[in-house]
Amino acid sequence: MDTQLVKIDDIDRCAKQIQKAAQIIKDGGLVAFPTETVYGLGGDGMNPEASGKIYAAKGRPSDNPLIMHIANKEDLYELSCDVTKTALALADKFWPGPLTMILKKKNTVPLETTGGLDTVAIRMPNHPVAKALILESGRYIAAPSANTSGRPSPTKAEHVYEDLNGKIPMILDGGEVGIGIESTIVDLTEEIPVILRPGYLTKEMMETVISTVIMDPALMEVKSDAKPKAPGMKYRHYAPKADLKLVRGERDAVVDAINQYIKIEEAGGKQIGVICCDETKNCYPSATVRSLGSRTKEADIARHLFDILRQFDSINVDLIYSECFDDMPGIGQAVMNRLLKAAGHQVIELS
Ligand code: TXA
Ligand code: MG
Repeated sequence: MDTQLVKIDDIDRCAKQIQKAAQIIKDGGLVAFPTETVYGLGGDGMNPEASGKIYAAKGRPSDNPLIMHIANKEDLYELSCDVTKTALALADKFWPGPLTMILKKKNTVPLETTGGLDTVAIRMPNHPVAKALILESGRYIAAPSANTSGRPSPTKAEHVYEDLNGKIPMILDGGEVGIGIESTIVDLTEEIPVILRPGYLTKEMMETVISTVIMDPALMEVKSDAKPKAPGMKYRHYAPKADLKLVRGERDAVVDAINQYIKIEEAGGKQIGVICCDETKNCYPSATVRSLGSRTKEADIARHLFDILRQFDSINVDLIYSECFDDMPGIGQAVMNRLLKAAGHQVIELS
């Protein structure tokens, strides 16, 4: 299959291209498209065959449910039989935006889309191309991140092309995304809302609208047998080809320790990569260094993370050390969640 890469720089001028993409969705096919978080791989979520194609193109296990993307808040009632007050309050405050809510599903939503669960994940994205595609197709678009299962999520159309060229008919290229980390997922089917995946929207931000939100305890577990409630969170994810280790501690101690490890490993003939920040990027003279950005600009750190994890796959290194980013008050938790998964939870603690 030929994969068409279609540049969308202006929604009005590109109406014809959006129509063509929407027709593919209506016909049960797949289109990758930008959202504000990461690129999605979309198909008609009410069509079980389209969902099947999504799992096949990504190589994704079929027990890992998809997120339904909508363009109007009222569509919540088309997908869920129990739209709670909490859901409405969160939607009013944060939609369109990087928030996915888990609710009880209506019978009409196919189990193929929800990975066999009786709940459905719903999000209203805040990106003009995503919105135009949903509206033009007149469908609810099921879309996981548009990467091959296990690889870092795509933040640029080139990343999607890298993974899915030849497997899907069309990629809409809306340039680099704004946030760069997947949406926050909150489960509203329990009495107390539970964050199943941290993202740009934090617990504290949600608690400005609803009383209490808790984090899924499985997010803190290092053991591989911990059972997270979002099925996708149990899979190894984002890992670069080279072994990745995180180093946690005071900034100077981390720089010193990483340089010591580099010295030892290089003496053994290994090539070393380092993931760090602008403040320390000149501190590792002999390694292949990639900075995520300045620690004073959290949004930059988050936006560059997946791109840099991907870059390391085409750089010849045997081992990568990364600084930690727990100290960033907003999106730090989401960044660390992704980095920990990429590192298979290998953390060197400097006390
Ligand atoms: O930002 C995002 O959320 C992106 C863009 C494209 O919208 N999408 C995305 O989808 O990250 P995906 O499929 O890569 O991640 C969805 C996560 C998975 O971990 C999945 O297990 C979980 O959401 N999930 C989906 N439906 C669920 C449900 N009913 N109950 C619990 N977890 C669910
Ligand atoms: Mg994903």
